[in-house]
Amino acid sequence: MCGIVGYVGFQEALPIIISGLEKLEYRGYDSAGVAVYGNGKVSVTRAIGKLGELKKLLNERSAEAGGSLGIGHTRWATHGKPSENNAHPHTAGRVSLIHNGIVENYVELREELEKEGSQFKSETDTEIAAHLVNKYLNKGLDPFDALKAACADIRGSYAFLAIDSQNPDRILVAKNSTPIIIGIGKNEMFVASDIPAVLPYTREVVILEDGDMADVRCDGVRIENNGKPVQRKVQTITWDPITAQKGGYKHYMLKEIHEQAQAVTDTFRGRVEQEEGAISLPELAFDDKELAGIQRIVFVACGTAWHACLVAKFYIESFTQIPCEVDYASEFRYRQAVFDKNTLVIAVSQSGETADTLAAIELAGTRSPTMAVCNVLGSSIARKVGNVLFTHAGPEISVASTKAFTTQLVAVYLLAIYLAQRRGTLAPEKVGELTHSLLHLPAAIQQAVEVNSAVEKVAQRFRGAKDFLYLGRGICYPIALEGALKLKEISYVHAEGYPAGEMKHGPIALIDENMPVVVLLQRSKELFEKTISNLREVEARGGKIIAVTDFEGSKELHALTQNVIEVPFVSDFLSPLIMTIPLQLLAYHIAVFNGTDVDLPRNLAKSVTVE
Ligand code: AGP
Repeated sequence: MCGIVGYVGFQEALPIIISGLEKLEYRGYDSAGVAVYGNGKVSVTRAIGKLGELKKLLNERSAEAGGSLGIGHTRWATHGKPSENNAHPHTAGRVSLIHNGIVENYVELREELEKEGSQFKSETDTEIAAHLVNKYLNKGLDPFDALKAACADIRGSYAFLAIDSQNPDRILVAKNSTPIIIGIGKNEMFVASDIPAVLPYTREVVILEDGDMADVRCDGVRIENNGKPVQRKVQTITWDPITAQKGGYKHYMLKEIHEQAQAVTDTFRGRVEQEEGAISLPELAFDDKELAGIQRIVFVACGTAWHACLVAKFYIESFTQIPCEVDYASEFRYRQAVFDKNTLVIAVSQSGETADTLAAIELAGTRSPTMAVCNVLGSSIARKVGNVLFTHAGPEISVASTKAFTTQLVAVYLLAIYLAQRRGTLAPEKVGELTHSLLHLPAAIQQAVEVNSAVEKVAQRFRGAKDFLYLGRGICYPIALEGALKLKEISYVHAEGYPAGEMKHGPIALIDENMPVVVLLQRSKELFEKTISNLREVEARGGKIIAVTDFEGSKELHALTQNVIEVPFVSDFLSPLIMTIPLQLLAYHIAVFNGTDVDLPRNLAKSVTVE
């Protein structure tokens, strides 16, 4: 996820671009850059770090001042570490280009372009797009057609903005699977990845659709889709600036819950070979000997990431038969943990900066091969290990992790299938089945998010409860833990997660009419029936049941409680991803009813960089 802004008109472009980027910094902040046309040429300035660093650099020079055409970018790295060279805009000949998205076939395109003489200055997937557009301009194509031709070569997701130094009155735009809007002014136009960037200047906005290409000039916009001219409705935005920043949602947490279908897609995009029904993770540089030598896997993580590791254990052991353990990073260092050259130690961390996880993986690296599943390129953990599998959740602003968790689950699912493929522990048909079920996940997540108002009603019913018990079995037990953690974190209500079968060994003593029991019921016949038996024990003691299930229309369950939240079924292994969404929403609504600071809960920090 990155933030992009463009301006063409009669005013000075630079201040407008910078103010737009300030509104979009929530989309990425590891580096930033601008390209502005003025005095007969395009000047590019880029800086690593937050936008402030770029502003400092721009203050020291004046090349960009005065021009009234420009583009700007704030980056969240996906390919290539955060660095000045990898920051956007990328330039090739006459072209300066910025991008939000992922070019899936960039390796092969780069090879072809290099053979044709292009010289690359960055490690990014984006730079190939600048070279492609420049190549087609050199063949005599109009800039709009050149971008069109480039997009025809590219597979992946993109919002591209390009300017051509020989046509300094146009911004060329292309959109596929990542958002882009055009703000309509009087003799000026604004382009951005999100509405807040243009709101100080105009409330008239066109939202582009997938496949749209736009030729934006100060006095009008031409939009085509599939080579044919199209009209897109001009919408008037009435949001106040703060609501706009949160995409119209009351809190970042709710916005991030709604972003999960996209974040999950971004995480498996380019890693699923649909035709072969296989997983491709070229970023993992394990050779065959190294892989064959792995006799044990140990995950280390904290908090929500630790819950993702518990699900990972199911995936790894089921698909690869490699024994797997999950350790709290904060515990791993302070006992005589057993690990050696045949143990692969994997750190899972959204931020890549959690002090305990960093220390654990550093220690592990003294004796074992290590890798990380991480959301932040260039973070300390990502730099510390041999191999990194990045989640592509984009920046997560709310302290309570939501999309980081579901993307971690996708990443470890990909990893487990990949290891099984390489070690030959699953039949190719099974690999194909597991791989293909991923493709149904985004739609199912989207449907699960739509239970929001049903969950809000349940939250209203139970808002006054002082304690909650969360129960799950098998692969959904970690989700019970995660649901309880979410509730504790943001609503300050006590909650505990338990394997449903363990209830009778202690927690059952707590159950009375004041104790809501949130239970996860997977469709799998054996576990569903066993969990129903546990619920009868709850009912017999007057406990109130809130059930989340992917088994539609169970009479037995509906007879036990009126609080049933049904979500779609995709597969037994992907159930945890879908079941977790109503639990995020339940915690969210209870917190809102309790009036807590949802995005910044008391005593917590987004990234815990101290022991
Ligand atoms: C999740 O809602 C929490 N904020 C917290 O448990 C978090 O997952 C934990 O601190 C680990 O963070 P990391 O993934 O950035 O390492």
